[in-house]
Amino acid sequence: MSVQLVGDTEAKLSALRGILGTRHPFTVALLDDASIRGGDIDVVIVDADLRLVDNIVALKRISSELRRIPQRIFLVDDKSRLSNAQAHALGATIVLPNTVDPKQLLANLAGNDPSSAATDATDGREAASAGAASIASMFASVLSGADVDLVSTRRAGRQIADSIAENGLSDWLATVRRHHEGTYQHCLLVTGITVDFGLSLGVSEADLERLYMAAMFHDIGKATIPLIILDKPGRLQPEERMLVETHPAAGYDALRDKTGLSPEILDAVLHHHEYLDGSGYPHGLCAESIPDIVRILTIADIFSALIEHRNYKPAMHRERAYEIIQGMQGKLEKPLISAFRDVALTR
Ligand SMILES: [Fe+2]
Ligand SMILES: [Fe+2]
Repeated sequence: MSVQLVGDTEAKLSALRGILGTRHPFTVALLDDASIRGGDIDVVIVDADLRLVDNIVALKRISSELRRIPQRIFLVDDKSRLSNAQAHALGATIVLPNTVDPKQLLANLAGNDPSSAATDATDGREAASAGAASIASMFASVLSGADVDLVSTRRAGRQIADSIAENGLSDWLATVRRHHEGTYQHCLLVTGITVDFGLSLGVSEADLERLYMAAMFHDIGKATIPLIILDKPGRLQPEERMLVETHPAAGYDALRDKTGLSPEILDAVLHHHEYLDGSGYPHGLCAESIPDIVRILTIADIFSALIEHRNYKPAMHRERAYEIIQGMQGKLEKPLISAFRDVALTR
């Protein structure tokens, strides 16, 4: 495995050199004059202060080479929500604080298996990278009050749809689970499952675009919920649950004034936790007020949450997850549950 180290100061580079020692062959470059030969590097470790505009500009300059490297570990000076989102938007696949225990950094390197990365369809990996960067960038926009970039979201959604049409859902699930984590992993999986569900139902091109846009944006409101609550293992306290349940409306508010986003997409963001029997949130809508696009997204969202690996729960098998969905008749539309069977189990 070959590693490239990129740092914004000599001191950071020499600390990284010390950590790697003789364990892996590596090359070193200062961010200012970094030129990266993406083709033959397995992992890049970037240690740069993302609060400095010059560093952001320099990383954007090398971003296309950077994205050709399968694993991109960013070490950030402050592990705030915003710098985490910024690092992902710049192409990181893993973000760690630069005070990370060297053993943990080496464990992340050891967890990178270039031979398994090589089995990913290249366009699947690129689509997942583009999708994660776009989701990270929309989270950063919500956190900093900047405008959400619809064009890059649409482009990334299109890329994901093309990759799934080409390589199938199973490839997508494996690639995303191998390279992405947390909320970004969730949004990428939901987008892939929603797209595949749409393809299996034979929806029109325009509806497919509505579906992937709704899925990419559906949890954007989670940018406003503290990570300590989102990542909490076990049951949430009632007041924590109330806070989590504000995310559909927060997402809707972040997007409502954007021109170019159709009412159907906004409606899906606002209502993806509603159930046909009126037991969902935020509005307790009943069946007749919940359109098809929302019903499709809701099933994909629940299935995705079940099959995800979280740091407090292992991934559930697709068969078991589908059984749970089947047990939700009354809340989810029966014919859609039946139509989802192929997507859940075989595609
Ligand atoms: Fe949600
Ligand atoms: Fe979700």
